[in-house]
Amino acid sequence: MTTGQTAAVTGATGFLGRHLCERLREDGWDVRGLSRPSSDRDGLDGIDWYVGDLFDRRTLEPLVDGADAIFHLAGVGLWSADPDTVERVNRDGTENVLEACRACDAGRVVFTSTAGTRRTNGSAVVADESDVAEPIGAYQSSKAAAEELVDRYAETGGDAVTVHPTSIFGPGDDSFTPQLLAMGLEPTMPAYLPGGLSIVGVSDVVDGLLAAYDGGGRGEHYILGGENLTYDRAVARIADHADGSPARVPVPSTAIRAAGPVAAAVGTVTGRQVFPFDRKMARLATQRLFYTSRKAHEQLGYEYEPLESHLPETMAWYREQYR
Ligand SMILES: NC(=O)c1ccc[n+]([C@@H]2O[C@H](COP(=O)([O-])OP(=O)(O)OC[C@H]3O[C@@H](n4cnc5c(N)ncnc54)[C@H](OP(=O)(O)O)[C@@H]3O)[C@@H](O)[C@H]2O)c1
Repeated sequence: MTTGQTAAVTGATGFLGRHLCERLREDGWDVRGLSRPSSDRDGLDGIDWYVGDLFDRRTLEPLVDGADAIFHLAGVGLWSADPDTVERVNRDGTENVLEACRACDAGRVVFTSTAGTRRTNGSAVVADESDVAEPIGAYQSSKAAAEELVDRYAETGGDAVTVHPTSIFGPGDDSFTPQLLAMGLEPTMPAYLPGGLSIVGVSDVVDGLLAAYDGGGRGEHYILGGENLTYDRAVARIADHADGSPARVPVPSTAIRAAGPVAAAVGTVTGRQVFPFDRKMARLATQRLFYTSRKAHEQLGYEYEPLESHLPETMAWYREQYR
């Protein structure tokens, strides 16, 4: 089957990118993927690889030239890089993709930012696209800066739309998903965090990316969220699903806040960032970071499934991977 359409995907070798590429291939798209020389491309079949990186114009231009859709997913978080690299990859890397698109015959850019650039002002329970927040940390500030570049691109003749996934859950993720599952499944992880978050299945985010390409308004932003769950609810539902009932105790908010500076010091010593990163981020972990996807639902027909519908496949993957 072929749609005759071509997609260029940055971040194709990442967690979300792999799922997106698989879906695009199933739907009959021709898929071009950006891959660093060191990227793991195992299991990604039927993709035309453009080997280089976000700082390599000679790779970016042929990648996007003639593509109907440019899904710009490549990015780094504080989990895997220092703040300078995070700024450079997320902001400057986005600028490079947009410049390549301007220089070439490129179709619509779908930029993947994060829901983290939005937050309620405290009075509302859920945040929407209009709740632009003061960024906390290099990840949020780099994504906010990249969003501005994308908005400007759309205002000045380019075609672009921005999506804001919340915390993505699913097979193939090596950060959030295994942490959350471990909290629900492992008797050795008997504590949960106060606060809560919006958990969205990776297949729902892929649906949202495709819907934003198809029907998103130029220059518009769409939150792609899932269920809003307190950590203890999420963890209890995972434990229920697994038919386990490990005893757990809550970690008091004060303990998590106090852990901030310690984690930052450990990060400096080990070269590895440890959650929570600093006082402000630690405070975030104790809040309810809830979101509404109503705009995406109304304008794009976006829907998300409950946590349980994503659990069987994700748990099977987790058990295979981590046991
Ligand atoms: N996961 C979530 O919960 C979540 C939530 C909201 C938003 N997002 C956003 O969604 C996007 C995808 O996230 P993910 O979870 O799939 O991340 P991921 O698994 O860490 O994948 C990141 C991808 O970016 C690529 N990349 C990093 N630096 C690059 C560079 N300099 N040049 C070219 N490619 C580079 C990586 O290549 P390698 O394979 O070589 O490392 C990888 O393909 C990111 O922009 C992220 O900020 C994620």
